[in-house]
Parts: sequence; C-alpha cells; structure tokens
Amino acid sequence: MNINDLKTLKQSGEKITCLTAYDASFAQLFDECNIDIILVGDSLGNVIQGDKNTLGVSMDDMIYHTQATAKNTNKALLIADMPYQSYTTAAQTLANAQRLINAGADMVKFEGGREFEACFKLLQSHNIPVCGHLGLQPQSVLKIGGYKVQGRDQHSAERILTDAKALENWGVKTIVIECVPAKLGKQISQSLTIPIIGIGAGVDCDGQVLVSYDMLGITQNPPKFVKNFLTNSSIQSATKDFIQAVKNRDFPTDKHSY
Ligand code: KIV
Repeated sequence: MNINDLKTLKQSGEKITCLTAYDASFAQLFDECNIDIILVGDSLGNVIQGDKNTLGVSMDDMIYHTQATAKNTNKALLIADMPYQSYTTAAQTLANAQRLINAGADMVKFEGGREFEACFKLLQSHNIPVCGHLGLQPQSVLKIGGYKVQGRDQHSAERILTDAKALENWGVKTIVIECVPAKLGKQISQSLTIPIIGIGAGVDCDGQVLVSYDMLGITQNPPKFVKNFLTNSSIQSATKDFIQAVKNRDFPTDKHSY
C-alpha cells in the first residue's frame, strides 16, 4: 500500500481502513487481515503507558514502537506520529521526521494547521510524506480544556476546512480529521483530492481510523465514535469485521457521529 493506492481508493469510492498498532504482534495480525494503513499513534500514551493524555510521549518512545511495528508491517502503509513538542521549529521537525522514517515509517503525522506552514513545506522539500491531523488535536487538550467536538460553529468549521486546503496545497498526502460534525467531515472529504481519514468525523470521510484498543473493547468508557468489534471469538474476526464494516459503509453510522 502506498499513497497512490490510497488516492486510487478515494477515486474509486472504496473506503480506506486504518487501525493503530504499537508492536510487532498487532502489526502482523492487522497486516495479515489486509488493513490499508497502520498508525503508530501517540495514543500509546493512553493505552500503553496509562496516561490521561498523550503529552508525555517522547520521540524515543515513538522510535521504539515504530521500529517494533515496522518489523511486521509488510503490506499496509505505516504512519508514525510526531509526539508533543517534537515539531516546534522546522529544523526540529525535519530531524525528528527523518528519525521516524529511519525507524521504518512510510509517512509521519503531526497535529495542526497553517501555523505549521514552515514545517509542512520543509518536509515536502525533503520528500518526507506527511499526514495532517485536524479537528480535535489531542496534544492541545490542555489548551482547549478537554476532549471536545471541534468545528461545530461556522467560524471554526471554516478554519478547519481552510487548514485542510492549505495542507493539501503544501503537499500533505492525507489528513486525519478527528471529532468534528459529520457534515464537516463530508465537506472536507468532498473539497479535497487527498484522502481524508475520519475518527468521529461521520460516515462520509474517505476512510476510518480507530485506536485498536478501543475497537477491541479494551478501553473503558470510550468516546461515542467508538464501536467494539470484538463480538466474535477472536481479534482476527474483530479486525476483519471492522475492515468489512468500513468498506461496506456499515461503520460508522449516525450513532457514532456528531
Ligand atoms: O494517536 C492516535 O492514535 C491518533 C488517532 C486517534 C487518529 O492520532
């Protein structure tokens, strides 16, 4: 799977599937189930390290988990997160992105919009593929005062859409949109040519991502946008059910949207 394959999926109308993995065993399992994208998310701060937010995740943590995940990711596109404060200047962003690529990532992801113009442009000029992350940005949880749906009013919806368009212009290959009203998820997906991967962003995004620990029902009290797919007898079945449900447009439904 490469970025051109993702674009082809978008153009053909086939939904893109993505799950997080943080280690070699889950990577192998998801890869063998033919997931399109594996994300080494900084959500590992929550589900692996047991923290309330992702702010404590370091570059060394991301390198360690990316290396482990990359060992068994053979078919899926592997995206790795840039953790909190690892992209405060363009030069730092480039150095840390190169570390993640050397650890085995195909693409790096970081949170934020037009305020990171210099970082996006520098990575693009060095041919490092970037995934954006707009809407709810968990690394800004202290600044915004909690995990809240973003883009509910017209002004903030327009800001997110304008950010998404700017990122596409600066060469960003795909964007994760988190926790926005379904209407905005649809508008962004229809306005851009690059694939939009939603999480709590409604049924009309080009693809769906879930934190694997949420999808497997391990997380206690998950957000509304989560569905527990481990209703069959194995993690393999749950993974295949998630992939089928996204491809068939059976997940998410309005019940999982804002
Ligand atoms: O860190 C992560 O797992 C993520 C997803 C929530 C998209 O960024």
